[in-house]
Amino acid sequence: MLFGSAILSSLVAAVAATTSYEGDVTTKTVTRGGEPSVVTWRDETPTLAPDADIGLSLVPSHNLTDHDPQEDCPGYKAENVKKSGNGLTANLKLAGDNCNVYGVDIEKLDLKVEYQDDNRLSVKLVPSHITKDNESHYLIPSDILPEGKPGHAAHSDLDFEYSNDPSFWFKVVRKSTGDTLFSTEGSKLVFENQFIELKTQLPKDHNLFGLGETLDSFKIPPGTVKTLFNADIADEPLANLYGSHPFYVEERFDDGCASSHGVYLRNVHAQDVLIDESSLTWRPIGGSLDLYFFSGPSTKDVVKQYQDVIGLPAMHQYWTLGFHQCRWGYMNVSELREVKETYRAHGIPLETIWSDIDFMQAYRDFTLDPATYPKEEFQKLLQEIHDSKQHYIPMVDAAIYIPNPNNESDAYPTFDRGEEADVFLRNPDGSLYIGAVWPGYTVFPDWLAENATDWWSEELSKFHELLAYDGIWIDMNEVSSFCVGSCGSDLYHLNRVQTIFNSDDPGFDYPEKFEQSNASDWKSLMSQSSAMQATATSTPAPETPKPTIVRDISEERNINHPPYAINNHQSPNDMGTHAVSPNATHQNGVVEYDWHNLYGYQMSIATYKGLEDVFPEKRPFIITRSTFSGSGKWAGHWGGDNHATWADMHYAISQGLSFSLFGMPMFGVDVCGFNQNTDSELCSRWAQLGAFFSFYRNHNGWAYIPQEFYRWSSVEDAAKTAMKIRYSLLPYFYTLLEDAHEKGDTFLRALSWEFPDKSLAGIDSQFLVGPSLMVIPVLEPLVDTVEGVFPGKCQVWYDWYNQTKVDAPANQNVTIDAPLGHIPVYIRGGSVLPTQDPSYTTAESREGDWGLIVALDQDSKASGDLYVDDGESIKSKSTRIEFSAENGCLKATSKGDYPIEQPLTDITILGVSEEPKQVTLNNNKVDSKFDSKSNTLKISFESDNWSKGFNLNWN
Ligand code: GLC
Repeated sequence: MLFGSAILSSLVAAVAATTSYEGDVTTKTVTRGGEPSVVTWRDETPTLAPDADIGLSLVPSHNLTDHDPQEDCPGYKAENVKKSGNGLTANLKLAGDNCNVYGVDIEKLDLKVEYQDDNRLSVKLVPSHITKDNESHYLIPSDILPEGKPGHAAHSDLDFEYSNDPSFWFKVVRKSTGDTLFSTEGSKLVFENQFIELKTQLPKDHNLFGLGETLDSFKIPPGTVKTLFNADIADEPLANLYGSHPFYVEERFDDGCASSHGVYLRNVHAQDVLIDESSLTWRPIGGSLDLYFFSGPSTKDVVKQYQDVIGLPAMHQYWTLGFHQCRWGYMNVSELREVKETYRAHGIPLETIWSDIDFMQAYRDFTLDPATYPKEEFQKLLQEIHDSKQHYIPMVDAAIYIPNPNNESDAYPTFDRGEEADVFLRNPDGSLYIGAVWPGYTVFPDWLAENATDWWSEELSKFHELLAYDGIWIDMNEVSSFCVGSCGSDLYHLNRVQTIFNSDDPGFDYPEKFEQSNASDWKSLMSQSSAMQATATSTPAPETPKPTIVRDISEERNINHPPYAINNHQSPNDMGTHAVSPNATHQNGVVEYDWHNLYGYQMSIATYKGLEDVFPEKRPFIITRSTFSGSGKWAGHWGGDNHATWADMHYAISQGLSFSLFGMPMFGVDVCGFNQNTDSELCSRWAQLGAFFSFYRNHNGWAYIPQEFYRWSSVEDAAKTAMKIRYSLLPYFYTLLEDAHEKGDTFLRALSWEFPDKSLAGIDSQFLVGPSLMVIPVLEPLVDTVEGVFPGKCQVWYDWYNQTKVDAPANQNVTIDAPLGHIPVYIRGGSVLPTQDPSYTTAESREGDWGLIVALDQDSKASGDLYVDDGESIKSKSTRIEFSAENGCLKATSKGDYPIEQPLTDITILGVSEEPKQVTLNNNKVDSKFDSKSNTLKISFESDNWSKGFNLNWN
């Protein structure tokens, strides 16, 4: 989040209409986007120093040319090589004088190569002696972050080869294709106490994907530096964002043959990954080289093989697929209720209403603001939400307010219980680490502390007694702090302190080509904007220090300013800027330097365990901002603070595809945009695009015009159209989630994963939902057509809306009609899609009659399946039905014990060449209608026990 508090105060001052006081709380009515809103604000409280969040401005080391590890360092020699049945071990010795480029060289390393299964090879390089001096090589225990288990590789498809000429290098070859997948030949291994360098060759014109979290094109272009250091940075192209996923997939298309492989570096340290025309260089600033190679040979295989190591994703509850509405700035219970009711009045399905920090008392986790969210009134609203089969999710931030020791009335039991249980991060001297977030000075849970999970779980349980939530949204867990270091150590007696956020973002700039007539009160918005900008500029911005180079090399690590400065996009480029500093210390002595990237991952696990206590029978639902490899097992993710721009809407697709690779099928971005004002055209297009992501949530920043879908009739219509498709297909979406959970399949898919073809690699302007549905969204303003490709030679595609075959050449751009309100969606020939008649909520939709869409391929065949369970229990009965169509016969076979009660009433067969003489279901004649124009056969009947299996014939 980026927001100037000067701006916030000025907004309040500039537009306050009514004001009332109660204690130190000022309640003001402000106008946002033409709508009055109540805001509580505390004027009398001190403010965090404006320069508190300014760390050192460091020159990113990858820009420096005077210390080239490849030139200066000697590399290693392997000796004592011992081969065994499933791999080899060796000792590596520094092959010359220390180079100490960005740390102190480690003299001896241990190499262990393990063929873990036929498609997975593990290569580990660790310092031979982990001592106090080289503790940066902190090795992550496997009970915290899973490791690939040694298995039986009877016929490994991967081969490890090495050489000492001129110094140690190795390569990994895929035997079945003879392809070298990874080769460090021609480069030297560098292994120092605060810097590691490993360089592999890449083929020319490579197709590389993954290495997140960043906002970028899906395919990584040469010249990219990917920095993996979790940061609270509002989605900015190429910046290191909220999560780290040190994993990539490379797709190759040699001589018309497609193959993919993947590489995972199980290293949680901050790192730069440099991608050039012909090489990829990994530069972690600690840890070990714990590499996994996955042989594929398809991208889908690689992703599964990766998830064999990091863990399969959680199965989510059915309702989580419904539409979610959120905003920062629902100021009181009435506003929340009004949003819920207005959605209902407009007939736009709303499944879940969310609360941002607004409901909290002075932004403290697990509390309610008595003035704006009084307990009884709020609980009554929650009852209404649940009575109407809807859901509610509140926010929980990572930081915990530390009460003012001089103010007895400043009680905060969550902190007291945490302190008692000793669960907060500390400074190296043992005192509490005190940073600052929304509530003022705060402490931070130490997820490695012995009692942390129990304390957290208890807080979540108490919170649920107060507020019967259905899932939890965890935020600011990179972990973000609005000042450098333990800035509150000497100042927390001033709490509650208002926090300041550096930004020159006035909050009221409009998206490109904005239609001013779309805003309900554009003039008043613009006058607020100018008032804000005037005040913002009158408050001098704190000066950013001049960029410096810190290259302090010693046996003792420089934790806060390591000699190698990663390319952190936080301004200024210091790992302690806007984050808990690297020297914050965990209970077991581990410092954040060695741990930072796991903060959100571990908070997700603790929250998951807490929700297991709250709902012992139900699957926990968590949406987290910060992630690491394997987070999918515990939570879903949203793409953070994006912007209401066409570019950011486009980026959503590559973000979604990347998180498919990362094993996080529950993913979506803030639909209509978080920062900046949206407009009706952008929001219409986005409401439709978002409907095809698993996580579908409209969320909006504080200062921006309201963007609920009912605000504009065009957006409302567009949303309803897309939601009708989504809600009909909920059974298909849910089956995809189960396939991800069970087998590591992906929800959103890139074209080249289903149709491996060089011309399709890297396309991120269209995508598939599972194997069977293709979406070609409009991603630019003021157009009514879109360019898209229909992938696959001989592949038949059907238009979702008119159900006819698409007449287009394979793999070539064609122009498709896409007026505002229409999102082109296609069904892949060869698929069977299960549907249910859609209703307002997912619970009601589960009661709808069943249907099937059988889309025949060019050989008149189709197949598909359906997974059904109770939609919420951890241990539910389940049923899986497989459908296969061939020679005018559709056969359904069923396995499982979950009773499906709703009747099957419609089957639509697409691509039927001529009218059948008769149609029978289990040998009984049924009604049908053939449309010779669209070649569609519609069959209607009512079968109650269809889910046990049936035969349908049309001949
Ligand atoms: C962060 C979150 C955003 C939220 C805001 C206020 O910026 O990313 O979604 O609205 O904090 O809690």
